[in-house]
Amino acid sequence: MRPREFAPGVYAIGYQDWDRRLFDALIPLPDGTSYNSYVVKGSEKAVLIETVDHSPEASAAFLNNLTLLGIQKLDYVIANHAEPDHSGTLAQVLARFPEAKVLCTERCRGMLIDLHAIDAGRFQPVADGAVVSLGDRTLVFIHAAWVHWPETMFTYLREEALLFSCDFLGAHLATTDLFATDEARVYEAARRYYAEIMMPFRTSIQNHLRKLQQYQIKMIAPSHGPVYGRPQFILDAYNHWVNDEPSNTVVLPYVSMHGATHKMVEYLVAALAQRGVTVKRFDLTTVDTGRLASALVDAGTVVIGTPTVLAGPHPLAAYAALLANALRPKARFASIIGSYGWGGKCVEILAGLLPNLKVEMLPTVLAKGTPREADYQALERLAETIAQKHKEAGFK
Ligand SMILES: Cc1cc2nc3c(=O)[nH]c(=O)nc-3n(C[C@H](O)[C@H](O)[C@H](O)COP(=O)(O)O)c2cc1C
Ligand SMILES: [Fe+2]
Ligand SMILES: [Fe+2]
Repeated sequence: MRPREFAPGVYAIGYQDWDRRLFDALIPLPDGTSYNSYVVKGSEKAVLIETVDHSPEASAAFLNNLTLLGIQKLDYVIANHAEPDHSGTLAQVLARFPEAKVLCTERCRGMLIDLHAIDAGRFQPVADGAVVSLGDRTLVFIHAAWVHWPETMFTYLREEALLFSCDFLGAHLATTDLFATDEARVYEAARRYYAEIMMPFRTSIQNHLRKLQQYQIKMIAPSHGPVYGRPQFILDAYNHWVNDEPSNTVVLPYVSMHGATHKMVEYLVAALAQRGVTVKRFDLTTVDTGRLASALVDAGTVVIGTPTVLAGPHPLAAYAALLANALRPKARFASIIGSYGWGGKCVEILAGLLPNLKVEMLPTVLAKGTPREADYQALERLAETIAQKHKEAGFK
């Protein structure tokens, strides 16, 4: 995309990576992503906020945008976040603009030196609340650790009440829309993004959202996805995702080799639905992990379905447990169901993979071979227990 001015003297010059399908070698990108970069031209100084990924296409398009914009001199480059999807072209920018200083947190400076061997003399670390004038424009730096690395900060352009929020509030979405006009689409992408990247830091985020209340914010420009011209949309969504109230939902990732666990899952889904509990079930052999993560954002209960394999859980179930444990969703209850042939430690091993979840473990249901009447009755009781627990906890 060519440079686009979206507030007086403020330009979007980032790169839409339409075809990228995987992020961090882990996260599926059904809609691609963007590496957003912004230029703010003040009456005296010009600043660049973030660079882009190091891929040759992204770097070339981005550097060309600086040329198209006629930037002869850059006073500062702001690095709100050190991750290479934003700092990947920093070294090239610094080589092209030898006078530019990098404004970032002290911690970010260390990380950028580690990641890209950037000369320590190029940095001018900024304290929390520090102010830098561009002439008729003022930048305020707001330290915001752990969204989603320890060095992160936000940059606030005071005269426009514009917040540059780095990965925070972002969405993996390649689009020609400069602004989040299709809010339903952006909501899904932003929720997925939150689930995959931000959810483990829910408590830090609660504090950041509180801190941001002191600022008047008319626009939010994140580092991925479109700009929010109506910031309340994304702030409300985040406030909902980070609060401590799960919904009346069960997330049920499962795997079945020969169909026994599958029958149990089918039965449990129907028994829960009959009691008014929403169930989001995921076959782990074909799952899009982003959808699974997104479902975990407000689930009240997580039930994992797995057969016993080589004395433990199926590796795909172990993967789902490891992922859920790392993402630290706010679920309050968990259970394990499945089938076995002769014995093993499936439940112990799987439960042991979930130490970060602050959940009450509900009774497990294990069928020997194909499930029979007694197993279905146990699943019926499990559904009843879950529905009751959700009701008592007031999950809506
Ligand atoms: C590769 C493989 C390894 C297995 N290892 C065990 C095991 O260690 N302990 C056990 O009790 N059952 C074991 N089983 C048996 C399955 O747990 C049992 O057949 C179960 O009913 C399969 O459930 P499913 O139909 O949902 O796949 C194994 C089955 C397979 C195919
Ligand atoms: Fe990041
Ligand atoms: Fe990022």
